[in-house]
Amino acid sequence: MSIIDKFSKTKKLDEFNRRILDSAPVSVVALNKDGAVVTANRLAMELMDEPQMPIINRKLVDTSEIKNNQKLKELYEGLLERGKPFYYENLAYKKKSLHARHLNIIAVPLFDDDKKLDGAISIALDNTEATRAKQKLQELNKNLEKKVFARTKQLDDINKKLREAIELKSKFIADASHELRTPLTVIQGNLDLYIREAKIKKTKTPYACSLILNEIKRMTGILSDLAILTNFDAKTETLHYEEIDLKKSIKAAGQSLQVLAEQKKIRLIYKRGAKNIKILGDEAKLEKLLLNIIRNAIKYTEEKGKIKIWIEGNSKFVKVNIQDNGIGIPKEDLPYIFERFYRVDKARSRQEGGTGLGLSICLWIAEAHGGYISVESEEGKGSIFTIHLPCKKKAAKGLDLRYKD
Ligand SMILES: Nc1ncnc2c1ncn2[C@@H]1O[C@H](COP(=O)(O)OP(=O)(O)OP(=O)(O)O)[C@@H](O)[C@H]1O
Ligand SMILES: [Mg+2]
Repeated sequence: MSIIDKFSKTKKLDEFNRRILDSAPVSVVALNKDGAVVTANRLAMELMDEPQMPIINRKLVDTSEIKNNQKLKELYEGLLERGKPFYYENLAYKKKSLHARHLNIIAVPLFDDDKKLDGAISIALDNTEATRAKQKLQELNKNLEKKVFARTKQLDDINKKLREAIELKSKFIADASHELRTPLTVIQGNLDLYIREAKIKKTKTPYACSLILNEIKRMTGILSDLAILTNFDAKTETLHYEEIDLKKSIKAAGQSLQVLAEQKKIRLIYKRGAKNIKILGDEAKLEKLLLNIIRNAIKYTEEKGKIKIWIEGNSKFVKVNIQDNGIGIPKEDLPYIFERFYRVDKARSRQEGGTGLGLSICLWIAEAHGGYISVESEEGKGSIFTIHLPCKKKAAKGLDLRYKD
């Protein structure tokens, strides 16, 4: 007698065991050697009983979901003929009276007392909730991907428009400053001619002439700063590298500003610092950088002030320090002073003249050399600007530059 017949016929699967099986949250069926269901728990019957066709005594592989599933049919054959257990994931189980279910099936062979294959037990775990959650997640992911794609495209479009607007603005500034330069040169030329003729005729030139000349110089300066910045933006600016004696460049910049300093009785003091500092850089641009910062120190320092300049460094990096005991920069303005057109306290700066472009040009030059500028300042006490530069050529961070040796 088979092991299953023995159990079911002798009613060994008593009431207590039946209750345990019926309350299990899985469906369990026992199959005889021929694959017919000999016993099934409550869930299995709910799942597989069909009207007028109870599952008991029917072959499991004849149920519609398995009949049409070649792979599963083969697995049951292997189980019943060769005792091969299997695990099958996600069987879509559609029965009219039930919602579509997803089942994970585990099936193992049963052996009789002589260890001969005598049937099987097949257990189905309801995996519907997990499968639905997974499907929902996949749908959500798909929607999310679509949204991210659409947003990225929008951002790309906006970026493109922004770039076009910036390019247009740069082009406008470049064109405008170029167009303005010609009439300014003509005015200056005529004024110079008028002053020269007046000198020859020994007549006095009106005071307004020197005022006009000063304003023309100021405007020419602004236009040249604007042209430099538009060149930076258009990435047409290049660095011409050569070996530079930094001490000499500092002295040269100081000397050209000596008159300005003397007018305010300001002393330029060159402190002894590192010796023989040679670096690779663009001499004209670094001189412009030094001039701008020393000029600022003079501009924003009261009469009889002091400006100390010194170099520190080694064979890799140099620091040029320019310290003044001038009016200083309020803490809240410090983060912005390198922005274009930014001027601390317009009224305070206006009497000194300027456009607020100087430091943004300085920063570009330092960064183009792979360096940077740091500032410490206290209002009413003074400021110290430090230009940090590498001695050798170093790639400029975030700047697209073409180098020329
Ligand atoms: N040494 C300094 N002491 C105090 N304030 C300073 C100093 N250097 C710069 N500043 C402040 O930072 C602002 C920006 O400086 P920046 O050199 O860019 O412009 P500017 O000197 O006003 O004009 P310009 O374009 O002619 O240089 C200045 O207006 C000034 O308020
Ligand atoms: Mg300046």
